[in-house]
Amino acid sequence: MATATAPGKVILVGEHAVVYGRPAIAAPVWQCVATAVVQASTPGSGISISAVDIGRRFSLQEADADEPLGVVVRLAMAHLGVQEPPDLHIELYSDIPIAGGLGSGAALSTALVRALFAYFGRIAEPAVVSAIVYESERFYHGAPSGIDNTVIAFGQPIWFIKGKAAEPFWPGAPLTLVIADSGVRSPTKETVGAVRHLWEQETARCEAIFDAIAGLAQEARQAMEQGDWRRLGQIFDANQTLLEALSVSSPTLERLIEGARRAGALGAKLSGGGRGGNIIALVEPERVEGVSAALKEAGAQRILVTRIERRSHSPLLR
Ligand code: MEV
Repeated sequence: MATATAPGKVILVGEHAVVYGRPAIAAPVWQCVATAVVQASTPGSGISISAVDIGRRFSLQEADADEPLGVVVRLAMAHLGVQEPPDLHIELYSDIPIAGGLGSGAALSTALVRALFAYFGRIAEPAVVSAIVYESERFYHGAPSGIDNTVIAFGQPIWFIKGKAAEPFWPGAPLTLVIADSGVRSPTKETVGAVRHLWEQETARCEAIFDAIAGLAQEARQAMEQGDWRRLGQIFDANQTLLEALSVSSPTLERLIEGARRAGALGAKLSGGGRGGNIIALVEPERVEGVSAALKEAGAQRILVTRIERRSHSPLLR
C-alpha cells in the first residue's frame, strides 16, 4: 500500500496574465490537502478509482478517454514502464474546495501520481509529476498555463513563466495569508474563456493590463525576497484593480476584499480564476483574528490561515 498527499495552492500575483506568457507567483497551501491511497486488489479486477469527494467511482478499463483521473493513471503507468495493467484499488480524498481557485483538480492528480510512484518504489521528481498532471489539467481548464500543477508538484513558492522551468524560491521572512472562500464555485475554464473573449475583442487594452501585471509580479518577487510586506500588500491591491479590469472579479469577492482591508490587512485580492472562489489577504500575524472575523462578517464561507516560510525540506518529502 502507498499513500501520498498534495497541497492546495494560491496565486499571489499574476493569474490570467500568466496564460499570456507573463510571470506569476504561486505558493502551496498545506492547510488543505488531497490524499491518494493505492493498494493491491483482487487478481483480475484491473484498476478501480474511487474519489468520494468529487462523486466519481469508475474502473480504468471503462473510463472515457478524456476522464482526467484516468488520463493521469495511464500516463503515470506509461512513465513507470508498467506494461501489464496491475490490479489496484485507488482511493482519493480531498478537503480542497472544488472550483474554488485553490487547485483542487491539480492536487488530486498530484497525490495520485505520487502515490502510484511510491507504490512502484520510484522517486517522484517534481518536474515529472508536474508534466503528467499538466495533461489532466487540460481537461479541467482548457488551456492552462501550467502554474497550478507546477506549484503543487514542487510544494514550494514558485516564480513561473509558461513554457519555462519554474524557479522555486523562499520569502525573506514568514508571510501570513488569510484565505477566504466566497462559497461561489467558479470553474477556471470559464474565467479563462471569458478573458480570452475580452482579449479577442480588446487585444491592445488586455495586453497593456497583462504588462502592468507582469511589472507587479517582478516587484512582488523583490518584495517577498526582502520581506517587505507593506509593499507586497500594495501590489495585491494593484493586482486586484487590474483583475477587475479583466472582468474576473465580482461584487461578492469585492465585499470580502474590502472587509479584509478595513480590518487592517496590508492588501487583498482574488486568487485563481476569479468570479468566485477564494480571496487572499496579506496580514501581520497580530491581525489574523480581526481580519478573519471581518471576513466572516462579510460572508466568507470558510477561512484558512497559512504561513509561507523557508523550510529545510518540502513537506512532500515527509
Ligand atoms: C488558475 O489558478 C490560474 C489562471 O491563471 C489559469 C492558468 O494559469 O492556467 C487563471
